[in-house]
Amino acid sequence: MKVVGIVGSVRKDSLNKALANFVAKQFEHKFEMEVLTLENIPLYNQDIENDAPQEVKSFKEKVAAADAVIWFTPEYNGTMPGVLVNAIDWLSRVNRVMVGKPSLVMGASMGALGTVKAQAHLYDVLRSPGIDSPFLAGANQVVVGAAHTKFDEQGNLTDDNTVNFLDMVTTNFVEFVEKNN
Ligand SMILES: Cc1cc2nc3c(=O)[nH]c(=O)nc-3n(C[C@H](O)[C@H](O)[C@H](O)COP(=O)(O)O)c2cc1C
Repeated sequence: MKVVGIVGSVRKDSLNKALANFVAKQFEHKFEMEVLTLENIPLYNQDIENDAPQEVKSFKEKVAAADAVIWFTPEYNGTMPGVLVNAIDWLSRVNRVMVGKPSLVMGASMGALGTVKAQAHLYDVLRSPGIDSPFLAGANQVVVGAAHTKFDEQGNLTDDNTVNFLDMVTTNFVEFVEKNN
């Protein structure tokens, strides 16, 4: 199974990027995941959506070729960061590469409940007609709080409870994707 992990933070030491890289490595026996970051994705512009910049084309091609998407969203001011919304806008237009493609949402923050609101908003957007992505939620919601205390220098997640939870959720997600494809 091929998955892309889309990271909603472009900063170098992003906790969400660290989480994505950890998931890719830790669960490589369950799925092959390429981590996609968004720093080179230009602002969405309807005037150029039919002949989008090369960075957008290759981003959309990678998403189109994947069996599923795992979103890694920070929370900014109680919602998703603009870079993530911008990427979603590109994905939602012309060839709607997300339609029918299963999603899982994860988020890391320094606070305890950080990303809960951002994730709720992302779920709403996943239901929109241009995205229309079935997603695994409920008990499978991954909210990594106090994330700055949970990684070692090498980017390994050191919190056993979180690692065990991720193991369960990713297994459930593989089953969910197989049922949806
Ligand atoms: C502009 C801005 C707004 C933020 N708003 C929130 C917020 O609403 N809720 C929250 O839990 N954390 C908030 N934070 C803190 C982020 O959770 C924290 O910076 C986190 O590390 C960002 O994810 P990253 O490490 O992947 O970049 C905010 C940070 C920034 C820079």
